Amino acid sequence: MVWIASLALKDIRVMADAEIEPIKGLNFICGPNGAGKTSVLESIYLAGRGRSFRHPDAGPLVRRDAHSARVVLKLWDENGDRVRVLGVERARSEMRCRFDGREVAKRSQLAEALPIQFISSQPQLLLGMGPDVRRRFLDLALFHVEHRFLAVYSRVQKSLRQRNAALKQGQAEQVSAWDQSFVEAGNDLTTMRKQVSADVFDRAQRILLGWGLDLGVAYRYRQGWRKEMTLAEALSTRLSEDMERGFTGVGPQRADIEFLSDNGLAEKRLSRGQQKMFVIALNLAISDMVADLSNGVCRPVFLIDDLAAELDGQNLAKVLAALGERDVQVFVALIDPPAPGTVEILPAKVFHVEHGTIK
Ligand SMILES: Nc1ncnc2c1ncn2[C@@H]1O[C@H](COP(=O)(O)OP(=O)(O)O)[C@@H](O)[C@H]1O
Ligand SMILES: [Mg+2]
Repeated sequence: MVWIASLALKDIRVMADAEIEPIKGLNFICGPNGAGKTSVLESIYLAGRGRSFRHPDAGPLVRRDAHSARVVLKLWDENGDRVRVLGVERARSEMRCRFDGREVAKRSQLAEALPIQFISSQPQLLLGMGPDVRRRFLDLALFHVEHRFLAVYSRVQKSLRQRNAALKQGQAEQVSAWDQSFVEAGNDLTTMRKQVSADVFDRAQRILLGWGLDLGVAYRYRQGWRKEMTLAEALSTRLSEDMERGFTGVGPQRADIEFLSDNGLAEKRLSRGQQKMFVIALNLAISDMVADLSNGVCRPVFLIDDLAAELDGQNLAKVLAALGERDVQVFVALIDPPAPGTVEILPAKVFHVEHGTIK
């Protein structure tokens, strides 16, 4: 697995120039509001994803009056016993990335070089947001465990785009010409997503039970078309409506994974703190699954913003212990360093952020 041995960042929001040497284990990024904690996490995220988690565009990320935001990471690769350098420079409209001395052209290559499991300050939003957010959550997990994922996903997207274009132009023959590839890739993607959902949910439930949290959670995978039909049947049943509307109304592009508690939507049944614990358990579950299925070769680095928000002291301690006992590198943003007694036994290092500098 890969972990960050050093992090140098320049002109990222309030941070002008900073360098830290994190440990493998828990790294606490502490400081008052506006100090730059989230910006530190954002810079690591930029290196692994090529963008920010706050906005789709890079403008606000680049420090006022600076030309570009830069981050350089030294990654310790345990499998190869060597250090590799990952550098990303993001100007307002362009991006340059280098990994191990080579130019990197695709974002997916960044994600392979530095797998990241990001938990926002309000991860419970996952439960109440649109299906697309939950699909992306699942697909990111799939990306790391199923090497065919990108190819299958691209095939679904391509045939869907072509099919939709034909629908808009009212060309029925062209529409059905794309059906076979859409159905094949769509079924493939659906099978993968169902497997990953079951695995992740199962692990998450065991993590919750280990924490003594009996939240009565369950999940329902919605594949994007009626259960009793094949995808091909669903497409042909729906053809005239699709022709009228000009887009494909059934298929894996409509899939969702709904999370339930006591037979209602988890978002409506559980308290916000309980929801947060549930979503954190899902994230831990994904990380465990990725580690298991890769025989420990891949274990995403956790970035966790404002972990303490909405968690009581006991739950916070449970999450920190769960992270500390795993073979994983974690960056946790917190206003105050963890209370004495919570992390003494864990591998941990505290960094203090103040007005854009790190101590
Ligand atoms: N492009 C920018 N240039 C300079 N400062 C910025 C920029 N974007 C945001 N900031 C400032 O950066 C500060 C850091 O915020 P943030 O990292 O979110 O702090 P924290 O997470 O510690 O509360 C905020 O005070 C904000 O006004
Ligand atoms: Mg913050």
